[in-house]
This record gives sequence, structure tokens and C-alpha cells, in this order.
Amino acid sequence: LMMSSLKQDPGNDVKLKIYALFKQSTLGPCTTPRPGMLDFINKAKWDAWKALGETPQEDARQQYCDLIGSLVSAEGGSVAAKPSGSASAQYETLLVTTEDKITTIKLNRPAKKNAITTVMYDEIVTALEQAGKDNSVLTVFTGAGDFYCSGNDLTNFTKIPDGGVELMAKQAGELLRKYVKAYIDFPKPLVAVVNGPAVGISVTALGLFDLVYATERATFHTPFSQLGQSAEGCSSYTFPKIMGNAKASEMLLFNKKLTAAQACDFGLVTEVFPDSSFNSEVWTRLKSYAALPPNSLALSKQLIRSTERERLHAVNDAEVELLVERWTSDECFTAIMNFFQSKAKL
Ligand code: COA
Repeated sequence: LMMSSLKQDPGNDVKLKIYALFKQSTLGPCTTPRPGMLDFINKAKWDAWKALGETPQEDARQQYCDLIGSLVSAEGGSVAAKPSGSASAQYETLLVTTEDKITTIKLNRPAKKNAITTVMYDEIVTALEQAGKDNSVLTVFTGAGDFYCSGNDLTNFTKIPDGGVELMAKQAGELLRKYVKAYIDFPKPLVAVVNGPAVGISVTALGLFDLVYATERATFHTPFSQLGQSAEGCSSYTFPKIMGNAKASEMLLFNKKLTAAQACDFGLVTEVFPDSSFNSEVWTRLKSYAALPPNSLALSKQLIRSTERERLHAVNDAEVELLVERWTSDECFTAIMNFFQSKAKL
């Protein structure tokens, strides 16, 4: 019965292939003993791995990435539904609106917890450039749905160009540098409305915001070492400065996830609100702030930033340089594969 149900689901062939390529690229050819004939699932997995024979680990790795990449694009999950409003029709992955002198940039891939694709990085840079020039007083960054943002979209790592992993890492590094630069140079008060859990770069970039409001449901997680990576968004500088080395290291090195209350105690968050009244309280406050004299606000923000601007650019450069190296490492590759592997459990 188990064997027939295993065969009936066509998705299982793909899962077995993913399993086999994962094993081959991390451990090499299959040398483990063959499971017993009645141990159907393990036997099917073993057969799939064994079938790859002496395929080199590098080739298996490439095939694995191609397979995951093709599944992701077939699913069409990388891009949000087109918004109907004219204000943000130019964006595929964002909803951008201006109301009450506030420009709001809302990440709009709720089904993927607002993970940031390469398209989305570019769109956010463009949206920040436009918000910096429009006639709004404040710019707000927030997420659609129950998450604020799940960080870098890990499928970005599976789209390997002809130039190989090195070229992918170099291009990703340039995109990241440009992305973080847009925050460092942003000329008006920038407010994060953290509507739910936040992961990775959506957390580290908070050190570059002027106000951070969070619902009590929000959490703050930077699992860089878990992913074989390293800190970005200038957090290697802003986090120790904001919360002290002892707390910053627990987050940036040891993947400690903070509650909203902890993040507020450590100075990363300005204020935490009950989830039930989060939107009404935050937006009432922001509307009153947006009525303050715009030039005074912008010039004061620029004054505060000016003491650190050069240093922040240097920190961004150093972080990007290390990450480009990390993205080509085995540690990182294995961690990314583990993420997709855990989604493909038989
Ligand atoms: N990159 C790519 N896809 C992501 C993603 C990311 N960073 N975060 C979430 N998704 C996808 C999931 O794969 C899932 O896709 P599916 O519906 O096609 O299976 C979908 O978004 C919903 O996420 P799911 O994991 O089912 O929700 P959850 O509430 O159980 O967990 C997270 C949410 C964010 C905790 C979990 O998805 C996660 O750990 N993501 C990775 C976060 C990460 O490591 N980011 C990089 C930091 S440097």
C-alpha cells in the first residue's frame, strides 16, 4: 500500500530527485547499505541516490540548483499579483502610496512572507529614490499580510548565471551595496512599521531607520551564521552601537531571536504596541508627525546622519565584500540546500 501511494503522487519523483541530488552534492556517491525491500520509502530514496552513480558533486550541485530554480519559476511565486491602483502600477512586488504627506512602501508578497527577490531589491531602491524626491514628509516601510519580511529570498541563490557561482555572488553583492546605500543616503525621516515577524536584512536595516514601531507579535531574527553567511545592512556597526557588543553578538553571531519587548529594551525598536490597536495607534501618531514643518524634519535628519554617513558607506562596503566570499562558500551552499530540502520532505 505504501509503495503504491508513493508511486501515485507524481510530485514524489521530483522530491526523490531533489533528495538524491542533495545527497550527491553534499556527501558524494551513495555508499550506504541498501535498505530492506519492505522499507519502501528509504529504498526509493536509496535507489534515487544510487542512480546518480559517479556524478561529480559540482555537477550534482548545479543540477540541484537548476531543479529548484525551475520549480520556483513554474510555481510563479516570485512576483505578487498586480495591484489595481494607479499609484503603484509600476511595481510588481510593492504597493506604494502617498497619503496625508506620508509615502508608504509596502512589501507585497505575503504568500512568501515578503521575502525579497532581486526584482524587489531593485524596486525598493527605485521607490526610495522617488519617495526622497516627492512632496511627502515621512516615508514608511511595512509589509502586507502577517509578516513584516522574511529577509533575502533564498531562491535568489538558485539562479546561477552562466558565469557560475562567483558571478552570481558578485552581482548579488553589487545589488546589496546599492540597496543599503539607498537607506544610508535617504534624505527624509524613515519609519519602519513592523507589522509582524522580521528576518535577516529586514532586521539589520532597522539600524538605519529613524523610528521603528512594532506590534507585540513581531520578532527579530538574523540567522546569518546558521546560513553560513554574515551580517549586512550596516548592522555590524549599528547593532553594537545601539545595543552594546554583548547583545549584538548574540543576535549577529549566535542567531538569537528577539521578542518585540526585548528589541525595544535593547534600543532597536522605538515603541511596541498591542496587536489589536497597532495600526490605529501608529497611523494616528504618524499623521500628526507628518504635519510638522517638512524642511526642519529633513534637515535635522540629514544633520544626524552626516556625522556617520562616510563611516556607514565604508561599513557597507566591508560587509558586502565578506558576503560575496560567503556566498561562494560550501557552508552557505549547504545551508541553502537544507532550507529547500526541508520543504521537500517525503
Ligand atoms: N526565501 C524564500 N522563500 C521563503 C522565504 C525566504 N526567505 N521565507 C519564506 N519563504 C516561503 C516558504 O518557502 C513558503 O513557500 P511555500 O508556500 O511555497 O512552501 C512560504 O514562503 C511561506 O513560508 P512558511 O515557511 O510556510 O511559513 P512559516 O510561517 O512556517 O515560516 C519563516 C516562516 C520565515 C520562519 C520561514 O519560512 C523561514 O525560516 N524562511 C527563511 C528565512 C531566512 O532564513 N531568511 C534569510 C535570512 S538571512
